[in-house]
Amino acid sequence: MFKVAVIPGDGIGPEVVSEGLKILDALEETTSLRTRRTQLDVGSSRFLRSGELLTEEDLSILIKQDAIFFGSIGDPRVPTGILEKGILLAIRTRLDQFVNLRPIRSWGDYSRLKNDKPFNITFLRENTEDFYMGAGGIFEGGKGRVPLKIKRALYDLEMDLNALSSNQDDYAFEIGVLSRKGIERFADYVMSHAKRTGQERVTVVDKANVCTNLYGLWRDVFRDRAKRNSIDLEFVFVDSMAMALIRNPEHFGMIATPNMFGDILTDLGAEIQGSLGLSASGNINPFGVPMFEPVHGSAPDIAGRNRANPIGAILAVKLMLEHLGMPNLGNMIEDGVEHTIEKGIVTPDLGGTSTTFEVGDSVAEFLRSV
Ligand code: NAD
Ligand code: IPM
Ligand code: MN
Repeated sequence: MFKVAVIPGDGIGPEVVSEGLKILDALEETTSLRTRRTQLDVGSSRFLRSGELLTEEDLSILIKQDAIFFGSIGDPRVPTGILEKGILLAIRTRLDQFVNLRPIRSWGDYSRLKNDKPFNITFLRENTEDFYMGAGGIFEGGKGRVPLKIKRALYDLEMDLNALSSNQDDYAFEIGVLSRKGIERFADYVMSHAKRTGQERVTVVDKANVCTNLYGLWRDVFRDRAKRNSIDLEFVFVDSMAMALIRNPEHFGMIATPNMFGDILTDLGAEIQGSLGLSASGNINPFGVPMFEPVHGSAPDIAGRNRANPIGAILAVKLMLEHLGMPNLGNMIEDGVEHTIEKGIVTPDLGGTSTTFEVGDSVAEFLRSV
């Protein structure tokens, strides 16, 4: 019996999560899989009602689970960043989910690229540091002091910044930080994942030609870890990586990225498959509670219309079952998705006319029939 916390969240989150749960239901009917699910009311509606973001009580429930299945958060009625930082980033950092696993692959004719060579790429994105530290502030009038307190599972870091400018303008800043230990544990995970999945080369993304301090340390650690593990490394600057993902995605097998560049590149990666709605994501702490979610957000522009593509959420269930040690069930889900896409049962983002429900039903029906 696996304990799974379910957080449907905002916008299309609840719509796609219910299709993911449909897949779990189908597998529980036909295999020995069993889950005990606890749904949490975390998201914009509770925030607007009570002002609560991620509470200590939520965390005490989450920490007891085998996995979390998350929809999406974000609501136009709430100032941007409040829910994103207060809920999603709070879960990732409090549960120390320091690896973000985001696979992409081509789905036949649905690829957005003229180049129709098949590709299959595993993105591993560092998930707790970089420009996601929350280390920011504003020096009003061009001077003053901003004390910063950063809390991570690995460390507490205090920085005290003083500014004095030549004029009275306001200065906003957001600091990117990488700790040696943070890079080391991420690089170790990348190397072991590469070996486990038979990758001989890892492409490492950064902007070391400009952010020389931040990504200089990143490169040093990666070089060291690659040497120890006899893995070939290829460093690619993020701008060039964006180009290469369009030009020749088939060249890449595993791509390791810092947090922010990984955020951007994985939306691009999702879209070259055919749609952002196809991509799934695993937030992994190898020693703790992982969280699985689609890559996309709450998509307020299409919410409540039964037209969201649920495949990202369905493949998040696949990643969850794989992580929990059931790769065979994961493969069955992917087969069900392939079968559904091949039959042309796809939502409007892929040019189809099927609804969210119909796509979920088709995958669930496939799982009941095998
Ligand atoms: P988004 O990912 O929600 O949507 C981007 C575009 O892709 C929209 O046009 C949307 O309709 C489309 N899209 C996304 N998912 C789709 C799906 N499953 N099927 C069909 N079309 C889909 O990004 P955004 O519009 O920049 O952000 C909306 C809100 O979501 C913001 O509040 C943002 O902060 C938040 N967000 C949350 C997460 C998350 O919870 N993991 C991720 C990204 C953005
Ligand atoms: C994602 C999202 C989040 C991120 C936001 C909503 C905090 O874009 O999961 O890709 O930047 O990681
Ligand atoms: Mn994103």
